[in-house]
Amino acid sequence: MSLEPVRVAVIPAAGLGTRFLPVSKTIPKEMLPLVDVPIIDTVISEAVAAGCEEIVVVSAPGKEPLDEYFLANERLEERLKDDGRDGDLALARRGQSLARVTVVYQNEPLGNGHAVMCAREAVGDRPFLMLWGDDIVMAPVPVGTQLMQARERVGGGSVGGVARVVPGDAHKYGVVDGEPAGPRTWRVRRIVEKPDVPPSDLAAVHGYLLEPSIFDVLATQKPGRNGEIWLTDAVSALAARESVHAYEFEGERFDAGDRLGYVRAFIATALGRPEIADEVRAWLREFL
Ligand code: UTP
Repeated sequence: MSLEPVRVAVIPAAGLGTRFLPVSKTIPKEMLPLVDVPIIDTVISEAVAAGCEEIVVVSAPGKEPLDEYFLANERLEERLKDDGRDGDLALARRGQSLARVTVVYQNEPLGNGHAVMCAREAVGDRPFLMLWGDDIVMAPVPVGTQLMQARERVGGGSVGGVARVVPGDAHKYGVVDGEPAGPRTWRVRRIVEKPDVPPSDLAAVHGYLLEPSIFDVLATQKPGRNGEIWLTDAVSALAARESVHAYEFEGERFDAGDRLGYVRAFIATALGRPEIADEVRAWLREFL
């Protein structure tokens, strides 16, 4: 029996972004540029490259610059059209032409699991790709595609992306307790959020392919650490009742919601842009 293809993605982007103050007071961190493209644009492009046609962005009150990225700016477009600047016009329209984007709202930042729950009505009874709105992976094959391929290999169910972390860093992540189930693949027993004693070096990062049953788990989940509803807790509970796998994806990951991760992502993006890469590289060498 072939699996139901994944055509919808959920991107939680409603957090307060306190690690990025002061700029995040007025500019959502998901809108910070990687050279000239907002972080969330890169995240959505990954979902689209993985075959998603519909994107549900979870925004929040006060994050209007994020919501407006997916709407037309008539004044700007008129001007560019009048001036015959077709290339710039295409760039101005990029946000609204990436995919079919629906914006839903999380009115209070009650946790990343709660944010996913806010997308329930838009997703319905379909499996979906969930990618964090501030996490970037540069890879020849988009992580979303890698997770879909892993899902095919294990015969379905939910699949989470994992990356290896050094033991001293494990306390910052949800860490997988599982057993090997193939190349780069583990069957998940549970995921322990920010453990003192990590069960493995496999940290749940970047995103998941989730069965819609995750919404039933989230609907009854009690708040966890910091009084927030965490997605990892829900995935862990899901693993106790149905198939959840972890897949160690290939690619270079950047936590762009963190200052150092953002700077790295920015530089890596600049070095990947043919029109400026050589000059950036030469300047970096000289500057250092
Ligand atoms: P983070 O933990 O990186 O976001 O969540 P945050 O809470 O905004 O971060 P800091 O620690 O205060 O800087 C990962 C993703 O989940 C979203 C965030 O917007 C980010 O894209 N998120 C987080 C929500 O949508 N809602 C929440 O309640 C929490």
